Amino acid sequence: MSAPKLRVAVVGASGRLGAFAAKLFAEHPRFELAARWERGDDWPRVARDCGASVAFEATRAGLGFAHARALLEAGLRPVVATSGVTPTEVRELDALARQLGLGGVVVPNFSLGAWLMQRAAELAAPHFAQAEIVEAHHTRKADSPSGTAADTARRIAAARERAGAPPLAPHGRAQPARGEIQGGVALHSLRLDGVYARQEVLFSGVGELFTVRHEMGGPEAFAPGIELATLFAARTSGVQLGLDAVLGAGAPRS
Ligand SMILES: NC(=O)c1ccc[n+]([C@@H]2O[C@H](COP(=O)([O-])OP(=O)(O)OC[C@H]3O[C@@H](n4cnc5c(N)ncnc54)[C@H](OP(=O)(O)O)[C@@H]3O)[C@@H](O)[C@H]2O)c1
Repeated sequence: MSAPKLRVAVVGASGRLGAFAAKLFAEHPRFELAARWERGDDWPRVARDCGASVAFEATRAGLGFAHARALLEAGLRPVVATSGVTPTEVRELDALARQLGLGGVVVPNFSLGAWLMQRAAELAAPHFAQAEIVEAHHTRKADSPSGTAADTARRIAAARERAGAPPLAPHGRAQPARGEIQGGVALHSLRLDGVYARQEVLFSGVGELFTVRHEMGGPEAFAPGIELATLFAARTSGVQLGLDAVLGAGAPRS
């Protein structure tokens, strides 16, 4: 006998990512699309009655925290894709979810390749004295540097600290073209029509360069991560951050 389908609602269902996820849930044998909500819908009021247990949220940077809270208060388990939910906000959501006996997950990047790129960067971080990140995205992307680039820089700094390596010394030059420094890592952002998403993490020591690169051509690459995160949200207690929790890697976070 096959497992019952998991009913999922989508907030931001007309957006690029929301529309992709809604189609995925509608067509996937393990999911059922329970509702599609767009801007202007009074979805917090009707959420409780739609029969969904999980809601996938992909709206506008800055709205993820308030939407996740509203979903939890309506009894739904949030899977938050929207950029900009801070670790402090995740802790607040976690406390609320535990109080309500619910769970959820905030995933800044659903790509398994991007997750592996970050894991590889954490592995390399203590062994090189210099690191820079070059990320490129399509021109519709509103923010820069990307959340993934900033998160990778944080992970590199944290991995060095865990290993007892000194903090990276940034270039220290007041030259915008040398990048924005975060965690001792210079971040460079390109916005180009011919690119969907790519990131290179370049580590350098004397006489050698070690590069980790990830590239994706479209939202299809998010599908396995969306499926795993949604199934995870349906069974977990409290709200977790990132694919680390979903994939059970348990990588310590800064
Ligand atoms: N986690 C990941 O792997 C991942 C991947 C891609 C994107 N993202 C993030 O996901 C978010 C959405 O990206 P996108 O490319 O899909 O953006 P998008 O195409 O602009 O879609 C956003 C959608 O949300 C709607 N919306 C805005 N406020 C809303 C509200 N209060 N209630 C319901 N719907 C609302 C927008 O409607 P209007 O057009 O009417 O404003 C629009 O349809 C962004 O923060 C992006 O950075 C995350």
